[in-house]
This record gives sequence, C-alpha cells and structure tokens, in this order.
Amino acid sequence: MLREHTDTPPAPPDPTLQDATARMLQVMEGGSLALLVALGHDTGLLRTLGDLPPSTSAQIADAAGLQERYVREWLAAATCGRLICYQPGEGTYRLPPAAAAVLTGDGADNLARSLSMLGELTRVLPRVRDCFSTGGGTGYRDYPRFQEAMAEESAAVHDAALIDHILPVTDRTDQLETGIDVADIGCGRGHAVNLIAQRYPHSRVTGYDFLPEPLEVARAEAAAMGLTNAEFVCRDAAHLEAPGQFDLVTAFDAIHDQAYPDRVLAEIRRSLRPGGVFLMVDFRASSNLEENVELPWGAYLYTVSLLHCMTISLGQGGAGLGSGWGTQLATRMLGAAGFTDVQTTTLDSDPFNVYFRAVA
Ligand SMILES: C[S@@+](CC[C@H](N)C(=O)[O-])C[C@H]1O[C@@H](n2cnc3c(N)ncnc32)[C@H](O)[C@@H]1O
Repeated sequence: MLREHTDTPPAPPDPTLQDATARMLQVMEGGSLALLVALGHDTGLLRTLGDLPPSTSAQIADAAGLQERYVREWLAAATCGRLICYQPGEGTYRLPPAAAAVLTGDGADNLARSLSMLGELTRVLPRVRDCFSTGGGTGYRDYPRFQEAMAEESAAVHDAALIDHILPVTDRTDQLETGIDVADIGCGRGHAVNLIAQRYPHSRVTGYDFLPEPLEVARAEAAAMGLTNAEFVCRDAAHLEAPGQFDLVTAFDAIHDQAYPDRVLAEIRRSLRPGGVFLMVDFRASSNLEENVELPWGAYLYTVSLLHCMTISLGQGGAGLGSGWGTQLATRMLGAAGFTDVQTTTLDSDPFNVYFRAVA
C-alpha cells in the first residue's frame, strides 16, 4: 500500500513487565465488561435499569421479565466493573445517569449497541481461528443477527442526522426536493432509503442489497410508512447494471467489506449521470496504522474487521480491504474509479465515520 508521508514517528518505549501486567488486567476486565454490556443490551436489562430507581435484583428481574439468578450474577459483574452502583445495606443497584446516557436509549450515543454487535460477531470466533491457518473467510449466513444489529446501529445515526446533517454533505438537497433518482448501495434493512423517500416525496429512491432477507424488512417498513417512491432490488453491486440511472448514490458502511470494491466503485460511477454525486460513508481511519494508534476505537475497528469486514470479503474470494483501509486509500480508489473532486467531511453526530463526497 502506498504511504502518504515518509516521516517515521519515534517508536513508543517498550512497556515494563509491571505495565504489561496492569494493561492485561485492564483488558481482562474490559473484555469481560464488553460481553456483559452486550448481554445487558440484548436482554433489555440495561434499558430496564435506566428506567428504575435503586432496586433489588428481584425487583429488576421482575421489571425486565428475566430470571433473578441470572440478573443477580450480571449485576455483580456490572458492580465490580463500576458500571452500576451497589448499596450493600439496602441490597439495591442503580445505573448512574452518566452511564445510562452511554448505555441506553435510542440515540447515537448508546455505545451498548456497538458492544452488542461485537457480541454477535463472536459467533464466528472458531471459524476465524481456523482461517488463520487455512485462509478463506466467513459468509453472511454465519452471522444470523448481523442485519438486525447493523440496522439498529445505523438507524440511531440516521434517525438523528440523515436528513439534517448527512444529506446536506451531498449539496443536492434542492434537487432532492424537486425530484431526482437516488440509489443506496448495500442498503441492508433499508431504513436510510425509507427516511430519504419519506422526506423527499418527489424523489425516487432505490435500495440495493444482495441478500433478500434484509430487503423484506426494508419493504415492510416502506409499506408501513406508506411510501410509493422507495423500492428495493436484490442485486450484487459489482454487477449493478444501471448505467446513467441516478443523480445521487449513497453507500453507508458498505464499501470496505466488498469482495470487489474496485468493481463496485466503478459500477456506482457508471450508474451516475454526468455531474451526479456519490456519498460514501466509511470508518474514520487512516490508511497508515501508526496514525490509528490514538483512535479511541482503533482496536475495536480492527477486531470488527477480523471478525466480519475483512473476513467476509475474503470468504467471497475478495480483496479483504478491512475496516482500516483508511481515508487515503479510499480517496485513491474513488479516483481510480473515475470520480473527481473527492472531498471528505466529518460530522459531530457521527464520530466513527468519515463522509466522502465524489462527483461522477
Ligand atoms: C455493513 S452492512 C451496512 C448496511 C446498511 N447500509 C446500514 O448502514 O445499515 C453492508 C451491507 O452491504 C450488503 N452487501 C455487501 N456486499 C454487497 C454486494 N456486493 N452487493 C450488494 N450488497 C452487498 C450486505 O448484505 C449488507 O447489508
């Protein structure tokens, strides 16, 4: 991979044995808590705790509709992990407001969703362990809850920011108002498509995905919203076969895990009318590893890549770009696909991603 600069930063000093041990203990606690938060999110326990005053394990289990013994063990771990506060005299537990703000709710700030996704991805640990020796990768069928968890994560961002903050990045909101042809590539359960179609009734919005199941959910949501300008097509984006059909194409978190990202980008470019805009949303990272060390979610980024993004691409015999392909490589690949005027934007509402705007 080409590098963007030639300066080599000084290597960090080696950790002492004491430092390395302390760090590993932190990792052991952090890793345990990641699984605990995933469970707390998926069972609804965190949401229940967020709604309750200080309560006993029996009261919490009752309110959540869960088994008390399991809830009590979860509470013990969460107490030791300092996620929740325990009052020994009363035998009560509470989720402090600041923890509730980052672990519950429908907003984009709820990080428990990202840990729920990590939990889902651990299903493939044995398979990925084998891949280290055998090569190959995984398939979408290996992740039965992936689409649900993905849709939950992206809906939080899109509900909060798609219309007011994300679409303005395209500089095409006036045309959307009048009525243009829009496509979303790798749309999954299609919530973004439906939000765009709802807000811009004169535009026609098509979501593409190569899996039929998420598209069924997308169509059901479009019907429930009474939309007549949203449609969903089951097609491989590497064979989009839609030359000159669109004025605006979006891809939310759907390019770096492609088997053939170069072909997909070229097909998207071909699907746009002259002057049409492509909005590509992808992980905010550098193509140079050392520049990602300070990212607070750098290890998460590459771990998710190992458990899904890189590995699912390799499983199709693909490029295996990985989540950390980075802004520099992405910009070069957009240029190689024939896009011009590639610009990047970051948004406060979405710290994990970078927004590429490219012109056909
Ligand atoms: C990480 S998910 C993102 C889904 C959605 N854009 C979102 O933000 O929730 C990537 C999606 O791309 C779809 N996908 C991957 N490769 C594809 C291809 N070659 N053609 C069409 N869809 C593809 C997957 O099925 C999946 O739904």
